[in-house]
This record gives sequence, structure tokens and C-alpha cells, in this order.
Amino acid sequence: MFSSRISPSSDVIDYMLDLVHQPTIMENDTLPQWRCFLMLKHGRMDNTSRCLSTEAGRLAGKVALITGAASGIGKATATEFIRNGAKVIIADIQRQLGEEAATELGPDAAFIHCDVTHESDVSAAVDYAISKYGHLDIMYNNAGITGSVTNTVTDLNLEEFDRVMSINVRGVITGIKHAARVMVPRRTGCILCTASITGILGGISHHSYSISKFTVAGIVKSTASELCRHGIRVNCISPAAVPTPMVLSGVSDFFPGKDATQIIEIMRGAGTLKGVDCDTIDIAKAALYLASDDGRYVSGHNLVVDGAFTSFKNMELPAPEKVMK
Ligand SMILES: NC(=O)c1ccc[n+]([C@@H]2O[C@H](COP(=O)([O-])OP(=O)(O)OC[C@H]3O[C@@H](n4cnc5c(N)ncnc54)[C@H](O)[C@@H]3O)[C@@H](O)[C@H]2O)c1
Repeated sequence: MFSSRISPSSDVIDYMLDLVHQPTIMENDTLPQWRCFLMLKHGRMDNTSRCLSTEAGRLAGKVALITGAASGIGKATATEFIRNGAKVIIADIQRQLGEEAATELGPDAAFIHCDVTHESDVSAAVDYAISKYGHLDIMYNNAGITGSVTNTVTDLNLEEFDRVMSINVRGVITGIKHAARVMVPRRTGCILCTASITGILGGISHHSYSISKFTVAGIVKSTASELCRHGIRVNCISPAAVPTPMVLSGVSDFFPGKDATQIIEIMRGAGTLKGVDCDTIDIAKAALYLASDDGRYVSGHNLVVDGAFTSFKNMELPAPEKVMK
């Protein structure tokens, strides 16, 4: 259609650009690509310009379901997705907080009570997205807990281990299963999960939590290998420590008597990338990248947002004066 021998006039290019703006002419998903192709080919845009998504509406027309979005990273991501044009369903076990979050985020947010350990709840949340908006584009399996800390493997409480795994692992695969159920027929979709730096290196957190997050990264690779055949991308994000209610309550156990501000300061001090603090918005921006067309060829990936924390280990050599001859 656009052979290099054909050089349409400027009016024809304008006409075609208008045409690809009309939703009736082409499927919504292909519009930005066609527009971009035309603009690049006919010198209306240089190659470095952002052409797959615009800054203002990178998720325009998209519907997202986010588990654990009543608070912390999930809520920040819901806010960022809505800011970028998405409709968001907040699925959380905390009813009051979830309803308050939906009210705060406005008409593009809705709440549904959902315990990710109950498959019927997850299934109903996905069906709610379909009945409300007709489709589901983004499923973000974010709900998670740390569980109570056991220091040694010999102390491991297996009931507690099962509880952590039922939310952090089973909850994630349940979300992927039911998102895939509605995404496969449409041959498109984006699935995100929250893993953690504790699933990249051992020793950062206690065994149950750490093992659950190593598993999330594995779930992503395993399911991405199948769902790529259906045009569905599956990725996870591994955040460093971010001051959210979950982490603040965990860290405060180690620093009795310190208030929330002091705990946040202690956490900030442990960050590796100097001059920037890791916050919920940093994870939300990573999720936005993966969910938008900017990340359209990224799948099976673990996007680590940790300011290089898991990239190095310092050699703990003794001071030269302390080394005996
Ligand atoms: N904050 C961090 O430092 C950090 C770092 C790495 C990974 N993470 C992960 O990020 C995710 C979000 O945690 P956060 O830090 O925002 O904590 P948070 O406590 O602020 O949010 C977690 C949310 O999950 C919900 N939830 C818990 N159990 C649920 C269940 N069974 N069904 C549905 N919802 C449930 C909670 O009600 C809460 O709203 C978790 O998966 C966590 O493991 C957090």
C-alpha cells in the first residue's frame, strides 16, 4: 500500500491522518501504530519522537483491575493509571479503605471486595470489569503480605508459610488465570505482578516472604511462555523497600519507640541510589511503562526498581593496618 515509489501529496497525507483518527475505520489498538507509520514515512515526525503513546493519555481507553489497591503501591498505581486515561477497578480485602480510595480517585475508579485467596472472588472481580466496561486490558496482581517473621528455617511455621503463599503466590496465579480467561479471546492484554528484591537475593527478608517473591518471578516466565501466543504480555516489578503501611508495620517491630517519620528516615538511609528516595510513585511509573504501548514488546520480564541495590555486593576486606604481616 505504501510502496517507496508512491509519494502522495501533502493533502493526501492529511486526509489519511484524519482517516486513522476515525474509530470506525480501524481497531482502536492499531490506530496509534498507523498514525505513527504515516507520520514517520512522510516526514511529519522524527524517529525519536514518542509515537506509540502520548504523555497525557498513555492508557486512554484501557481498563485495569488492580488487586491490593486500597493502599500503598496498588493505590499509587491506580492513581497513575487514572491520570493516564484508564478506568481502574480497585480489588481489595479492606472494604472501607478500598471504597474511600475509589471515592478519592473519582468516577474512573470503582471498588470491589476481593480476597485473592478465594478464586470465586478473583473470578467475580474480572467479570465485574467486563460487565462494567466490556473488556479488561490490564490485570495487576499486586496484593501481598509479609507474614510474621521467623528468623531460621528450623523455626519456620508451615501454617504461616501456607498463608503467605496463598496470597502472594496462589493469589497471583489465580489473577493470571482469570485475566487470561477474558484476554485470550481478544488476543491482547497486559498482566503485571508485584514481586520484590527479596525474590532476587536471599537474606533480605524472612523465608516465607522471600520464597513467595522468588516464585512470582517464576510464575511470570512460565505463564508468559504460553500467553505470548495469544498476544498477552506478562511481567513483574521488583521494588526495593518503599514506605507503605505493610513495610512500616514490619520495620517498626525492629525499632520499638520510633514513630512513622523516624522509621521512614531509617528506611531512606538504607537506599543505595543517593539523592533519590524510592517511593510508591516509582513503582507506579514502572507499571505505567509496562502497561502502556511503550512496553508493547516487553514480556516475561522482571523490572527491578531498586536503585542498583541488587546489582552489587561490596567486598568486606579488613583495613590494611589490621592485616598481620
Ligand atoms: N512496600 C515495599 O517495600 C514493597 C517492596 C517489594 C514488594 N512489595 C509488594 O508490593 C505489594 C503491595 O504492598 P504494599 O507495600 O503497597 O503494602 P500495602 O499493605 O500498602 O498494600 C497491600 C494491599 O494488599 C491488600 N491485601 C492483603 N491481602 C489481601 C487479600 N487476601 N486479597 C486482596 N487484597 C489483599 C491489603 O488490604 C492492602 O491494601 C505486595 O505484593 C508487596 O509484597 C512491597
